[in-house]
Amino acid sequence: MTREHIIINEVGPRDGLQNQAQALSVEQRLQLINALITSGIRHMEVGSFVSPRAVPQMAETDELLARLQPPPDMCLSVLVPNQKGYELARAAGARTVAVVVSATETMNQKNINMSLDQVMGVAKEIIQQGAAEDITVQAYLSVAFECPFEGLVAHSTVMGLAHELIAAGAREIVVADTIGAANPATVRVLLDPLTAEHGGETFACHFHDTRAMALANIFAAIESGVRKFDSSIGGLGGCPFAPGAAGNAATEDVVMMCEDMGYDTGISMPELLQAVSLAAELTGACQGGRAHYWLSKNTG
Ligand code: COA
Ligand code: ZN
Repeated sequence: MTREHIIINEVGPRDGLQNQAQALSVEQRLQLINALITSGIRHMEVGSFVSPRAVPQMAETDELLARLQPPPDMCLSVLVPNQKGYELARAAGARTVAVVVSATETMNQKNINMSLDQVMGVAKEIIQQGAAEDITVQAYLSVAFECPFEGLVAHSTVMGLAHELIAAGAREIVVADTIGAANPATVRVLLDPLTAEHGGETFACHFHDTRAMALANIFAAIESGVRKFDSSIGGLGGCPFAPGAAGNAATEDVVMMCEDMGYDTGISMPELLQAVSLAAELTGACQGGRAHYWLSKNTG
């Protein structure tokens, strides 16, 4: 029997490393990305084209792309905050870019110095340009449950933004719980109507584990029909502009849960665990993933 597939989009090289006190060299970033590729990961956000003054950890993503030799079936993406980021990403050969719309006014200001209206305008322009230039555009809806500055975000706000971005041609909407404030019930309330209307394949989810609910939220989103999830090796991650954004769901935990539930992720656990160790070694950060200890004793 063929098993249903769940796509794991590894975001450690971007969401994980952007938040480390110490910036890794391009060489070290490549080492981590290659270890992740070896484990079978085929979707990965490898960096961002943002101001190197705002996020020095993501400087030289162009050089990183130039030196990366991914397998042909690899889907690599980079985050772009604005038109300039899009141009730089395209020039560096990126085929998939992620634009970020935060659901609240203040979060957009803090993150990329634009109003929500401006960000929506920029996102729609990049979606259109991407379609004309054969570049896939994913649209993130950040702080989709709660904003560190404005508090709870109404589901209707997020749904409205998702509808608008889909109407503008967004290929994929990534519902992002940037500060880890969702719970399985709120995930269902938001995702059920969205997947019912647009299909599960239009959505991916990005959960931070601030309140230890990332895995439960992923399970809830699977129940809503979502089959693509962002996660980060060793649970690294967080947004430097969103206070309280702790690590992401750890890739090894998500892979273990999905595989144990009977889904196929295409990822090999022994190699993934090597990537976890490498991530810990390179960043000096603790492993956030909870299953690592058990898995390393029980994975042959
Ligand atoms: N990549 C690299 N440099 C960029 C850039 C991009 N995407 N967009 C703008 N810049 C440069 C400009 O060229 C300008 O450089 P200069 O001072 O040498 O002339 C400088 O940044 C300021 O440009 P401006 O358009 O005024 O931007 P800003 O100061 O309003 O900052 C962002 C806006 C988006 C560039 C900045 O807030 C940013 O990079 N944020 C990153 C947010 C992030 O990564 N968050 C985590 C992931 S969601
Ligand atoms: Zn994140």
